[in-house]
Amino acid sequence: MLKRKKKRDLEDEDSYKGNTFQIIKRLVYYVGINKRLSYLLVLFITSNVIFSWITPLVFRSLVDDGLGGGIGATQGNIDTIIVLGTIFFSVTVVGVITRIAQGFIISKLATNTMYNLRSELFTKFQYLGLDYHESPKRTTGKKINYLTGDVNTIQELIQSGLLVSVSNFFIIFGSLTFMIILSPILTVVSFLIVPVFAVIAGVLFKKVRKFFIELRERIATVTSKLDESIMGMRIIQSFAVEDENYTEFNDANELERKTTMKAAKLMAFMPGIIILIITLGFSSLFLVSGALIRQGSLSQGTLVAFIFYLFTFFEPLFSLIGLLTLLQNSLAAGARIIRLLDEKIAIEEKNDAVSLVNTRGLIEYKNVNFSYNPGVPVLKNINIKIKEKERLALVGYTGAGKSTFVKLLSRFYDPIQGEVLIDGKNLKDLKINSLRGKMGIVSQENFLFSGTIKDNIKFGKLDASDEEVISTAKQVQAHDFIMELENGYNTIVGERGNKLSEGQKQLISFARALILNPPILILDEATSSIDPYSELLIQQALKTLLKNRTSISIAHRLSTIINSDRIIVLDKGKIIEEGSHQTLVDLDGFYNQLYQMQFKDPFKKEKIEEEVLADIDIRGDSYNKGDRFSRFI
Ligand SMILES: Nc1ncnc2c1ncn2[C@@H]1O[C@H](COP(=O)(O)OP(=O)(O)OP(=O)(O)O)[C@@H](O)[C@H]1O
Ligand SMILES: [Mg+2]
Repeated sequence: MLKRKKKRDLEDEDSYKGNTFQIIKRLVYYVGINKRLSYLLVLFITSNVIFSWITPLVFRSLVDDGLGGGIGATQGNIDTIIVLGTIFFSVTVVGVITRIAQGFIISKLATNTMYNLRSELFTKFQYLGLDYHESPKRTTGKKINYLTGDVNTIQELIQSGLLVSVSNFFIIFGSLTFMIILSPILTVVSFLIVPVFAVIAGVLFKKVRKFFIELRERIATVTSKLDESIMGMRIIQSFAVEDENYTEFNDANELERKTTMKAAKLMAFMPGIIILIITLGFSSLFLVSGALIRQGSLSQGTLVAFIFYLFTFFEPLFSLIGLLTLLQNSLAAGARIIRLLDEKIAIEEKNDAVSLVNTRGLIEYKNVNFSYNPGVPVLKNINIKIKEKERLALVGYTGAGKSTFVKLLSRFYDPIQGEVLIDGKNLKDLKINSLRGKMGIVSQENFLFSGTIKDNIKFGKLDASDEEVISTAKQVQAHDFIMELENGYNTIVGERGNKLSEGQKQLISFARALILNPPILILDEATSSIDPYSELLIQQALKTLLKNRTSISIAHRLSTIINSDRIIVLDKGKIIEEGSHQTLVDLDGFYNQLYQMQFKDPFKKEKIEEEVLADIDIRGDSYNKGDRFSRFI
């Protein structure tokens, strides 16, 4: 039962609703072949094919006419040998030249395909919404594998044989035709082995395909595990779970090894079986041809040519069969790539979408319902109007739906029911970039990119001048700490900004949002505790950030909550209370309870309120650095 389920999971990920032909047809588009290259290829392939067709006939003449091996002949002819030798040499030289040129063209096409596919997949990744990227089914490892492993497999297929196999098809077909013309009896004898061969190859083909689909999945699991371990190394080490983590990684690694070995064992049988079958074929061929020559119905030259054709028939056939493994592997990779390219984009822009210009920042949620997964509502019947330049704070327990609420505003997701409006316009009627361009978003994670501090601040406005960057940083209180870093604004922050403290990262995120001077600001406050000094800097920065624009702050800091015009309390996806801090405290409901729990600590409450409400002198000593601000959860 478990096994069956596992198999279905694997197939779900890999199956492509089209057939093999459709996968190839779709992928051919990315090869990017142009007319000139295709004419050249056709020329080279044709010359290779003709070369392989006529060479055995040259040898037949050489044996029968040149060396005197024909029926009843006793003497050779040196002139014939010279003529045939010259023909053979010239054809070989031309063959070598065309093969070199063909090699160049094929490399070019393979590399182009890799390049085209990667660009297309990367673009697709950027178009796909958060519903795709946040889905727990899709790990980073898997996603990276599409652009690396899968694309490389297809490149390899083109490089090592896809086009060569076109000429192989003609060579096989031609050799067979010549064999039949030369001697139908010998052809029948030689092909007695084919049915045996076909059955064995067929069985192997099926099994190998299965292993390769499984193998890709295993490789992706190992990559995902690796990716997670590297990203989460700090947590792994601080929880001292290196051993357990190693075991987990090793399990995935071991599974991949076993699957590879299963496929390899199967493939190891191949050469032995082939040699056995060929030997059988040749033995019967020699027996029959010996009899025919003695009978006088077959010339020695014809036998030589026939054996030549036999080789030019089987050699390309085997190379095609060898390619099957790679083809299987590539079909699985191709299927995954096409699935990704066909992935539906949930958030699409209408053709007649309009740009959002001169936003006043009026926001309205009308009967909004939302769920990530059917049957699990996350936002329930949300109705709210946010006025121009209003400072709205959103509070509630973890998982209440606060981040989801703001994700709908930047249209990372669409409501299941109801609508979200800006300045009275439904978000669905707006150009997405124009909408998001009007919003400064500071998310819960404070993600920074691996470039410099300046790059990170300029992220939302690439043409910002250095002066703008510096003045923005000054406004959010980030300038001083930046100047203390080794290279100031040109300091590289490390991957995900890991060189900076949480508070510093938050200040940079503020600057990144502020540089746009957005009419709407969305702030998803980080819940992690930071040191009291940075806390003060952040509070100061927030004042600037929230000034003169409509803002929705998911607030964990008392200062943000108290300084807001209105507070909304979300509980299990519903708005349950709404009003100013004092109104809600007086209401003595859920908010008050939350407030009492978080802030009314006998040791802290008075002190916190005093400090928060007072105009804080950042550098003054009035602040006791030993204290911390409490937060909502
Ligand atoms: N991408 C997702 N797919 C499925 N469920 C999700 C997804 N993101 C959030 N959820 C679920 O939706 C609910 C609301 O999540 P949300 O992130 O909005 O909470 P929150 O109020 O912001 O919490 P916190 O204060 O911890 O940030 C949670 O139950 C969460 O498990
Ligand atoms: Mg959240």
